[in-house]
Amino acid sequence: MSRAAVLCGLGSALPATAVTNEELAARLDTTDRWIRTRTGIGQRYVIAPGEATSDLAVTAAERALESARRGGGDGTDEVDLVIVATSTPDRPCPATAPGVAHRLGLGKVAAFDVAAVCTGFVYALAAAASMITAGAAHRALVVGADTFSTILDPTDRTTRAIFGDGAGAVVLRAGEADEPGALLGFDLGSDGGGADLITVRAGGSRQRASGLPPAEGDQWFAMEGRSVFTEAVINMSESAQRLLDRVGWKQGELDKVVAHQANVRILHAVGEQLGLEQQQIVVNLDRVGNTVAASIPLAMADAAGDGDLVPGQRVVLTGFGGGLTWGSTALIWPDVEPVRAPAHR
Ligand code: UT7
Repeated sequence: MSRAAVLCGLGSALPATAVTNEELAARLDTTDRWIRTRTGIGQRYVIAPGEATSDLAVTAAERALESARRGGGDGTDEVDLVIVATSTPDRPCPATAPGVAHRLGLGKVAAFDVAAVCTGFVYALAAAASMITAGAAHRALVVGADTFSTILDPTDRTTRAIFGDGAGAVVLRAGEADEPGALLGFDLGSDGGGADLITVRAGGSRQRASGLPPAEGDQWFAMEGRSVFTEAVINMSESAQRLLDRVGWKQGELDKVVAHQANVRILHAVGEQLGLEQQQIVVNLDRVGNTVAASIPLAMADAAGDGDLVPGQRVVLTGFGGGLTWGSTALIWPDVEPVRAPAHR
């Protein structure tokens, strides 16, 4: 059998503060009814002043390591790679991952960030799995962490309603491709022609910091919702289908899809395209909103903790986000006990 990256630990972290739709509606021109019917979201979590993305990343990573230990895994000293998928790093430079590795006490391990917005976690899984199969790493921590509350326009009722903060993490170990938890293949893609659909215009080298305030609104995250909605449905469905073909699973053989949690209507449309019943699509955005790179591992931790993902099921993970980017991977769900964020409910 060939060497593969095997998922053996799963953890998640959320800030202490949940903001309900009613609380948002008290500040912005929106309603609980609009948000629930148009997105499926009921609340989202936001970090406190002074908190940063790495704080959530470290907690989720600690929990993933604890989950791996409960599953009989080795100690944390064996982790030799940390990848943090994020588009809200603690600072523009350096990357967030080395600081996370340092705070976890992992020693001088390889550590870098991946920026693929909501597809970041899948891209980071692909990078870690490739390094493990190539023999460049043996045990990896892959974290998806974002704090979009720090880059949202406080007056934008649409993005404020959708996005929330959070982190999710997995431990990948070197193993064999026929083991449960082995990542069985990847489909990754991008279309930079859609870069303006999901963007923060200012703050990079194109519209650089000059000491003056950026042009009106350019420092905030901006999204063209309707176009993104259509692209999300098309690209997650097509990517998942290409992945199924690559792995050799027929549509009817798939048990569960964990897709990026952006909008419940997108999730149902992707499920329909893949010939799935609604209960085969994992949904946790009602409780956490769209947590960007954290979305897929947070949804996995919730679903596994709730008994909605069970060992032996054939599972596809699929994401879509800014870039534009998309990506999918597949695994037989392993016997893993997630260590979840206590603030989940
Ligand atoms: O994570 C990366 C991927 N992101 C996504 O996949 C997001 C994809 N897009 C979406 O989920 C949806 O497009 C949104 C939830 C962002 C918007 O829903 P929509 O049904 O596409 O709404 P819309 O943008 O077409 O706007 C419809 C109406 C507009 O009012 P008018 O022009 O018809 O009078 C908006 O101003 O809804 C209004 N609206 C709101 N009303 C109350 C937009 N946001 C809100 C709000 N509360 N929060």
